Amino acid sequence: ARKLILDTDGGVDDAQALLMLIANGRTPDAITTVFGNVGLDAATRNILTVLEVAGKASVPVHKGADRPLTQPVIDAKYIHGEDGLGGAPRPAKIPEVAGTNGVGYLVDTFRAAAKAGEKVDILMIGPLTNLALALRLAPDITAGIGQLTIMGATVYGRGNTTPAAEFNIYADPEAAAIVFGTEIEMLIAPWEPCVTHFMTGDEVEALLKDIPESPEKTFSVALVEHARRTTVGYGGPDHFRFVDPLAIAAVIEPELVTKTLRASMDVALSPGITRGMTVVDPTGRLGTPMVTIIEEAKVDRLVALYRASVAYRANT
Ligand code: BDR
Ligand code: CA
Repeated sequence: ARKLILDTDGGVDDAQALLMLIANGRTPDAITTVFGNVGLDAATRNILTVLEVAGKASVPVHKGADRPLTQPVIDAKYIHGEDGLGGAPRPAKIPEVAGTNGVGYLVDTFRAAAKAGEKVDILMIGPLTNLALALRLAPDITAGIGQLTIMGATVYGRGNTTPAAEFNIYADPEAAAIVFGTEIEMLIAPWEPCVTHFMTGDEVEALLKDIPESPEKTFSVALVEHARRTTVGYGGPDHFRFVDPLAIAAVIEPELVTKTLRASMDVALSPGITRGMTVVDPTGRLGTPMVTIIEEAKVDRLVALYRASVAYRANT
């Protein structure tokens, strides 16, 4: 498989997504972190924690942007908990961060790939700031970018952070505008299918019951219980929704995506109630459609990939 970079803001479902990649044979070659669900330092610590739990401390982690391009920083601690991992138990020792210039890492990596006539894939499950900065510094890197997969945006205009905007876009709309304005092929898992692809609380309990206890499982259980509690706490059903894990699953197993929409995408930047809202155009009036939007996926396959991550044992 092609080299893969994961760009993440270190929240609860980012942790689940990373565990799913590792357990299903797509451990990222490197990880860049970004502010988002929590601040940059906490996001980075969370990713290093997941790598330690999974026995993959050798994966290099590079710290990226600590704030959006123009607006003040926001977070989603009200969803992901003060620490960003819903208070999941942490190992005593957490590995060191490899680099403090995630944006420079992206520029260097994509440039080197382009020079060698190769491409590197990037999977983004937080605000799009790191890639936007890299593209602004070095527009030539598009030649080295392979599959760009993003969790973010809405297709039908109903957000999860404001009535119109989804978190990863709302956290840095200017960055999203740069990424969507670049001629790169993109695969997007927007908010809507994340809500409609889920396991019920009972299904989660049944799945967990059959998996032997282990420190790795204890960590995963803390994450899924936090996710369920939060969804219920905000007036939703007792569901474990596949959010970042939906984007990840589409990379691990592209065939599990059963329905897509081909479109171009742009983002509203004006202040006011539509800031951060994405506009999707399948007709080509907004430009050449470069975006494939996930609408439906096989839930049984999502469950299987998730199950593997809970049953995963480090060093075995
Ligand atoms: C996105 O925001 C975060 O809460 C999730 O990790 C996901 O990246 C969903 O809007
Ligand atoms: Ca995320």
